[in-house]
Amino acid sequence: MKLVAQRIRGMQDALPNEGKKWLEVLSAAMNEAKLYGFKYIRTPVLEQTELFNRSAGDTSDIVNKEMYTFKDRGGRDVCLRPEGTAGVMRAALENGLHSKPLPLKLMYHSSCYRYEKPQQGRYREFFQFGLEILGSSSESSDAQLICAGYNIIKKLGIRDVKLSINSIGCSECRAKYVEALKSYLKVHANKLCKTCTERFDRNTLRILDCKESNCKSIINHAPIITSFLCEKCFKSFSILKSHLDSLEIVYEIDPGIVRGLDYYNGTVFEFLTEFSGAPTAICGGGRYDGLSQTLGGPPLPAVGFGFGMERVLAIMKQQGIELLSKSEPLIYIASMDFESSLKAEKLCEDLRRASVYAESDIFSRSLKSQMKYADKIGAAYTIVIGSEEMKSGKSLMKEMKNGIEFEIPLNSSFVKEVLKHIN
Ligand code: HAM
Repeated sequence: MKLVAQRIRGMQDALPNEGKKWLEVLSAAMNEAKLYGFKYIRTPVLEQTELFNRSAGDTSDIVNKEMYTFKDRGGRDVCLRPEGTAGVMRAALENGLHSKPLPLKLMYHSSCYRYEKPQQGRYREFFQFGLEILGSSSESSDAQLICAGYNIIKKLGIRDVKLSINSIGCSECRAKYVEALKSYLKVHANKLCKTCTERFDRNTLRILDCKESNCKSIINHAPIITSFLCEKCFKSFSILKSHLDSLEIVYEIDPGIVRGLDYYNGTVFEFLTEFSGAPTAICGGGRYDGLSQTLGGPPLPAVGFGFGMERVLAIMKQQGIELLSKSEPLIYIASMDFESSLKAEKLCEDLRRASVYAESDIFSRSLKSQMKYADKIGAAYTIVIGSEEMKSGKSLMKEMKNGIEFEIPLNSSFVKEVLKHIN
């Protein structure tokens, strides 16, 4: 089949089977977030490019190389959001949410767009489930957020996940560290890969993220940021560790975690697991106390994280984790003529209104093909209505797995009787 247009590279369709798992993961994550008081927020996919130039930073790879930017028909510079946090902060400030009682706890599920090289677990359109706590600089909010991420992973049943944390300090400690890192790297400059050479001046910290083996061995001996933390940042990082210890959250300190967005300061963290043979972040986040002011708002310290939904689902598949909830049993009501098809249609509606999954024929198929179809779509129970059943006012409901039949009245007690047998 030659279609006039195909799926765009790096974009994915979520087909019904995948879609079902997706909704389950999302609802498990949202339910967990609700226990902490997070409220849902939705922001537009299209934002002014300036929002991300300022927040993610115009030296970051995301802004420099990966954004989908264009001029709209009015000549405005706009882009598809590459991540969820900046839009959430903009919306909170623009709508005055920060003048409500703090902290503000927000959750979102947003499509994001990055023009990266598509590969397993890395797409040009992907979805983030994110949580943000705005208005608190306390380490207990970092700890609470990390706990929420930890509990979501546990609820989903994902195993072998490592929590890596780090502190990238404040702008002062970071500036000193970048100096020291540059002097160290200078000595090895001729051995760095092309990307790291490009990053040397503009985005030095990102060199720590390089996966090239040569760069990795150089980085292994580089000075570490935690040795450059000022007293305040050092103390804050120690307090966070005490919170995590007391909450019995297992973590490791990885001074290599610097994150790819410029708005971070202090605590940064990632939940990582093995995927396609390499440690992969399913969730990343950290503190971004300066973002509100960068965008022109008041001081509003904040911390948050984003889960990559595709990665979560791919890892669940890799680990053989099945659907979390049982699917609803389907009741198929077959009919034999126009009159009984009207009855089947009405009884199906009555069942749906009682939250029971039900189907009836919409193709005027023969009884034989209706039963075949019921089998194909996995009906747990079938009911057949024809002129006899219409006359007697009752039918039999058959449990397909064992053939057991129950008599069911086709009157106002229908739903009650069905519920009695399926529950
Ligand atoms: P990020 O680490 O860039 O952080 O993205 C968060 C998560 O999105 C990653 O851990 C990964 O699972 C997923 N992800 C990123 N890029 C891709 C891609 N190309 N394809 C598939 N999945 C991807 C942020 O975006 C921050 N906004 C997180 C945050 C929230 N920080 C504070 N609050």
